[in-house]
Amino acid sequence: MGTKHRTFSRTFSSKFLSFRYSTILTLFILFTVLFLLLSPLRHIREQFILAEQLRFNGDLRDTKFPWNKLCFGPTFEKLKLAVFSKTWPIGAAPGGMERHAYTLYNALAAKGHEVHVFTVPSDRKPHQDIHDDNLHVYFAANDHGSVNISLAFDNFHQVDANGGFDYVHTESVSLPHWRAKLVPNVAVTWHGIWYEIMHSKLFQELLSNPDGKLPGPMTDLQEAIPRLVDEIRFFRSYNQHICISKSAGEDLINIYQLPPRNVHVILNGVDEAEFVPDPEAGLRFRKKHGIPGNVSVVMGVAGRLVRDKGHPLLFEAFSSIARRHPSVFLLVAGSGPWGRRYSQLGPNVKVLGALEPSELSHFYDALDLFVNPTMRPQGLDLTLIEAMHCGKPVLTPNYPSIVGTVLVDEGFGYTFSPNVNSFVEALESAIRDGPYILQRKGMACKEYALSMFTATKMASAYERFFLCMKNTRYCQYPLPTDC
Ligand SMILES: *[C@@H]1O[C@H](CO)[C@@H](O)[C@H](O)[C@H]1NC(C)=O
Ligand SMILES: *[C@@H]1O[C@H](CO)[C@@H](O)[C@H](O)[C@H]1NC(C)=O
Repeated sequence: MGTKHRTFSRTFSSKFLSFRYSTILTLFILFTVLFLLLSPLRHIREQFILAEQLRFNGDLRDTKFPWNKLCFGPTFEKLKLAVFSKTWPIGAAPGGMERHAYTLYNALAAKGHEVHVFTVPSDRKPHQDIHDDNLHVYFAANDHGSVNISLAFDNFHQVDANGGFDYVHTESVSLPHWRAKLVPNVAVTWHGIWYEIMHSKLFQELLSNPDGKLPGPMTDLQEAIPRLVDEIRFFRSYNQHICISKSAGEDLINIYQLPPRNVHVILNGVDEAEFVPDPEAGLRFRKKHGIPGNVSVVMGVAGRLVRDKGHPLLFEAFSSIARRHPSVFLLVAGSGPWGRRYSQLGPNVKVLGALEPSELSHFYDALDLFVNPTMRPQGLDLTLIEAMHCGKPVLTPNYPSIVGTVLVDEGFGYTFSPNVNSFVEALESAIRDGPYILQRKGMACKEYALSMFTATKMASAYERFFLCMKNTRYCQYPLPTDC
């Protein structure tokens, strides 16, 4: 285009000046418009999507965004629900799926629904069944302490005969697919699918054998494919599917080919009263664990210190960071084989061991940045959500489950590809931003977490889901009772 303009200008030299001015003017306007459009575009688009969701009007089964986003009003209708869960937490702090089940069913029972859980105790010891107001927990273990599904199904039929269940819910394959086939009114919540696990095996392979020099077949990766094929085949034995991230919902529709109307996204929530910003508690925590007052940025990581939680990656990335930034500090909460290696990293690292549940929120409070190096894209890590509730920005791999659901805005933190260089770059930009910007990002995280990841929102989304499955009247949104 430039050459053409020049030819044109030479030929019509009399018009040269006016042409040049008009070109400059046009270009100026064009660039200004482009600049104005592009720079805040992402933000505007997000705002728009947000507004779209808030204004949603229609059948809930057609939503593509998490149900948590909506605000459901109270209901007088009471449900009778059956739940199959691999375990039920006994005593100390439960983790992962178990914690999700415990939080959810206690909340639904507290809302007045009759909840019957068929499961085994998490400690694998004999326990009496639990009958706590609306919550009934039946233990049906076999000799090894895992669920004896025949026995659990017998219990289920007994309670069912006493007034039929409105709906049946299974946490992953706790109700196996060959049984689920016989239960038409069943919904399953997937906490991780093999399509995601395959990605994680792929990343692990690339990380542990970057140049393909190690001998031997990639067994883990090779074994993932048949598992995935098998899963795609049996998933259709379940009628309704709930995913805990947007990307898993898309996978179920696009890869597993399930009917979009039978796939729903309901995100996990954590107790928003337990995880709150408390700067003073954070300072006390820093003091108690001897963190020097002159450090510039305190980063933290929490969870089991094992290979597939990405500790080899963090170990290498942080070694490089500590050399270049002696005032950056890393707090490591949790136990596992990598604990000892971290403690050899020098004075910039402190390994705290496993924390009591009551200390966990103060640990988050003590940080400037929460780092989650996980190599497992499946499911959603509750620690990310807990840190956000405590007002901390997060630094985490750019897996679809994370960027599509948790770190949906750059203003919430930093992402990296699961390799050392990319990880170091992300850490560098967090350090460059410094505590003040980190704090601002943390406040944005807190706001987002409160709008999406609370136990209250999760319970009310599940409640509405089961109501909608029982009576399609409840699939309409908003109802006059909705907020
Ligand atoms: C499971 O329970 C059934 C009774 O419902 C029993 O016959 C069977 O032996 C149990 N299986 C195991 C492995 O405990
Ligand atoms: C922080 O202060 C201690 C002494 O209190 C000193 O040894 C250390 O080098 C200082 N660190 C930095 C990064 O300034």
